[in-house]
Amino acid sequence: MSQLRRMMVCAVGLAILVGHCQFAIAADDVAVGHNGMVVSVSPEATRVGLETLQKGGNAVDAAIAVAFALAVTWPEAGNIGGGGFMMVHPGAGESPVCIEYRETAPAAATPDMFELGETHLGHKAVGVPGTVAGMELAHERFGSLPWEEVVRPAARLAEQGFVIEEKLAAGLTSIVDRSPQFAELVRVFSPPDGRQQWRSGDRLVQPELAHTLRLIAEKGADGFYRGAVAQQLAEEMRLGGGLITEKDLANYHANAREPIHGTFRGFDVYGPPPPSSGGICLIEMLNILENFDFEESDRFSAETLHLMVESMKRGYCDRARYVGDPAFTYIPPHLTTKEYARQLAATIRSERATSSESLAPEIPLAAEGTETTHFSVVDGNGMAVANTYTLEQSYGSRVMVRGAGFLLNNEMGDFNWKPGHTDRKGNIGTEANAIAPGKRMISSQTPILVTKEGQIRVVTGSPGGRTIINTGLCIIINLMEFGMSVREAVDAPRIHHQWFPDEIRFEGMERPEFAESIKQLENMGHAFYAGSRKQGDAHTIVIEPDTGLLQGAADLRRLGAAAGH
Ligand code: DON
Repeated sequence: MSQLRRMMVCAVGLAILVGHCQFAIAADDVAVGHNGMVVSVSPEATRVGLETLQKGGNAVDAAIAVAFALAVTWPEAGNIGGGGFMMVHPGAGESPVCIEYRETAPAAATPDMFELGETHLGHKAVGVPGTVAGMELAHERFGSLPWEEVVRPAARLAEQGFVIEEKLAAGLTSIVDRSPQFAELVRVFSPPDGRQQWRSGDRLVQPELAHTLRLIAEKGADGFYRGAVAQQLAEEMRLGGGLITEKDLANYHANAREPIHGTFRGFDVYGPPPPSSGGICLIEMLNILENFDFEESDRFSAETLHLMVESMKRGYCDRARYVGDPAFTYIPPHLTTKEYARQLAATIRSERATSSESLAPEIPLAAEGTETTHFSVVDGNGMAVANTYTLEQSYGSRVMVRGAGFLLNNEMGDFNWKPGHTDRKGNIGTEANAIAPGKRMISSQTPILVTKEGQIRVVTGSPGGRTIINTGLCIIINLMEFGMSVREAVDAPRIHHQWFPDEIRFEGMERPEFAESIKQLENMGHAFYAGSRKQGDAHTIVIEPDTGLLQGAADLRRLGAAAGH
């Protein structure tokens, strides 16, 4: 096999050995292959995924191995104490499935358990974790290698440690500095040799996490939801005033759900269903945009950006109005129909911004965390996985389960905080996403699969809190409407509007080539958020229809590595 076909691309410019091969490294390149592709934020996790494929595992085996590896190598968001959504395309002609493993409110949760303005750190903010159950369900449905074989590499990484690079060194140093009240986190993540700071080149070894992962490898999800780990977790809750009990853990289950499906310019687009808002919101926005002709438009013209932003406002407004856990909340089916999108498209004026307030004055929105992680996997048989999972904020609740070596999420903060209390500061008190025992909180996580005639064509997704859905929209528009290459589509500046606050965030804000478009948009009544924050981290794979060539592009905004074979 040629060097090119087995190329490894690493956005941090490290040389990495994968199996017996040294792979070519290029920070701004694309990894290619015909037999499999993995793209994630972490070079070590990508390597674990590629090795899983190389030893005969399918895309789901590799995805599970990557998910457990990220819990070791990317602790701000990779997790076993959080939850997420895994979209699986089983193979040519088969229908995608969403493995939903969102966290759940414990039985003792009550609608008014949070004070307004309370920071959502600490034990009370933890939802019953879903990741381990989600991985087990994905494995039962689609896995081909033995479970132990896909979990063990992560246990080994935790036990033997791995060399950290600059971003992780800075992240660990900072979280330890900022979390003096979380003694177990400080103990586990303190720099070596009594130093104040982690340095790139240090080794992070996590023996307690290794032990927990070995239990999961041996016993499956029971190794987490029952027995010693469940006892440790419940004890942690008792000591810290949290609500989760051993019974909550034993009752947790992941769901295989039907994805939200739509079409865009002849492609089939699949996103996760509620309790994620991502699928509905994405399809609603794409349906609106399909009503316009971009043939003569530039991707960053004021006209294109205006139509994208107006679609975003309408999609996010419906998201806030209607979406919550479908077991508790009725979600009207018309949101993803072409007819409804035609009606919404007709309300967009070509020369003028619509004020968010006029769309639904009664419901502003609260903020969400910005640290999650997404990875994409495709195998040589056309099976594909888009997985997004999270602890919610960076390092979650910061509660590290004593002696068990893993962090817990603070996902209870994704519920509406105070029933009936909606205000202009961004608090929202509507019923669809109010806290209730056993309910799953709304999410923006949006792992995306695009197919044509049953064949997988694009696998993508991103972190970024509420910006996630718009990052997915930008990638799809870049690829499907403007014909960009995967590298161009991932690199292109992203845009975000979430209905409230009524302002545009644009990564290209400070670039002179966009100044004219920005000026025109302001003249149309659009407001821009000053400054340009990075939006998302969209590790993406595109599959060429004729040749089957897999092209993987790591997003260079944070860290990332794509590897194909
Ligand atoms: O599920 C959600 O929508 C949020 N908890 C995700 C938070 C997030 O993406 C933070 N990300 N980068």
